[in-house]
Amino acid sequence: MTRIVLASPDLAFETWVREAFEGRLNGDLRQYTDEPESYGSVADVATDLTAGGPDIVAFGPDVPLDTALGVARHLDRSNPEVTVILVTKPTGKLWEQAMKAGVDVVLTPDALADEVRDEFERALEAAERRRANVTAEADDPSRGHRVIVVISPKGGAGKSVVSSNLAVGLAQAAPGKVAIVDLDLQFGDVAGSLQLIPDHTMADVAQLNGHLDLTSLKVYLTPHAGSLYALCAPDSPVDGEQISVDLIGKVLGLLSEEFRFVVVDTSGGISEHTLAALEVATDFVFVGAMDVPSVRSLRKEVEALDALGMTQQKRHFVLNRSDTRVGLDRGDVEATIGLSVDVAIPSSRAIPVSFNQGQPIVSADPRSPVARELMKLVARFAEVPAAAAAGGLFRRRTA
Ligand SMILES: Nc1ncnc2c1ncn2[C@@H]1O[C@H](COP(=O)(O)OP(=O)(O)OP(=O)(O)O)[C@@H](O)[C@H]1O
Ligand SMILES: [Mg+2]
Repeated sequence: MTRIVLASPDLAFETWVREAFEGRLNGDLRQYTDEPESYGSVADVATDLTAGGPDIVAFGPDVPLDTALGVARHLDRSNPEVTVILVTKPTGKLWEQAMKAGVDVVLTPDALADEVRDEFERALEAAERRRANVTAEADDPSRGHRVIVVISPKGGAGKSVVSSNLAVGLAQAAPGKVAIVDLDLQFGDVAGSLQLIPDHTMADVAQLNGHLDLTSLKVYLTPHAGSLYALCAPDSPVDGEQISVDLIGKVLGLLSEEFRFVVVDTSGGISEHTLAALEVATDFVFVGAMDVPSVRSLRKEVEALDALGMTQQKRHFVLNRSDTRVGLDRGDVEATIGLSVDVAIPSSRAIPVSFNQGQPIVSADPRSPVARELMKLVARFAEVPAAAAAGGLFRRRTA
């Protein structure tokens, strides 16, 4: 395998690199000997240079700067995995130009052998690490699986409406690959919002103690319309109190092995149980309203998560009852919270009506403006058929 390609017809350049490695390169190095004056298009040169999948492309000092930078710019887009080394005398604005063109390393032609070898070896090691990571990711069955936790600092913001519609919408896009978990352990209403009468709840899962595994956990899920699975909250608030915090991470971890999407509804604020869910989440969905107290508390919640170092997860912001007129506009809300509004759901009587009937609005009335907004949230996670996004599919499908 060729790992280094030298773009330069100059034999002295090849010798310079080989000597830095004290002759240890052998077949790892290929020289591209076309004269720079006769180079074809940058795309053609880039294709020739990267034939064989090298880790490094190094331009020799004899390649005119503009030519080298032009090809580097193309490589930056076409082959971002390749480290580009430019060997040239650094002048005035060179660093800036090179950086803008995506050159990774600039070496002067009079660099000492040690420095040359170090730079090349560093790039080769980085490529090894990148390859190892890619393989590990490809072997990981949970790759691409999302644990989406829906939160708001206060009760009544619309978390359960958002999570039940998100789960049902995702199940339309990925039937059988979605689970919803009710972490409002004391007063959860996911079962009600989906018209489910669960045989088992989180309280039964807690009883499994050391015997919790995916097979037993799946037995405790309640199917909804054959395409979505729910882990419901205990019937009694007292049972909810007994659920240990440790259980949450384990349960969500197991579910995310099996389901492509795990949607988690929570109670208001950041309880210990919610925190355990946030720790394994890939995505946070913040639900907020237009009034000053909710905006303030949501800002505090966002800041608290920042302070806890939870900044890796993708953040989504749903502004609920977005048409409420209370003197704040969307820009004020976004500026205060520091998140831009991804989905804005207006107030609609259809929401409590469908919620109370146990039929989330994305399936009860997919053509309604509210359902279309909610499908925009779904579309942030899964490919939604265009007709469904426009409210033309899944019309009045019963639960
Ligand atoms: N956009 C809306 N228009 C009209 N009613 C709404 C809207 N969003 C939510 N509601 C209603 O507001 C009430 C509270 O919503 P929901 O239960 O989803 O909030 P929550 O954040 O889950 O509350 P809790 O923290 O108590 O669980 C419900 O009756 C719901 O139907
Ligand atoms: Mg709720």
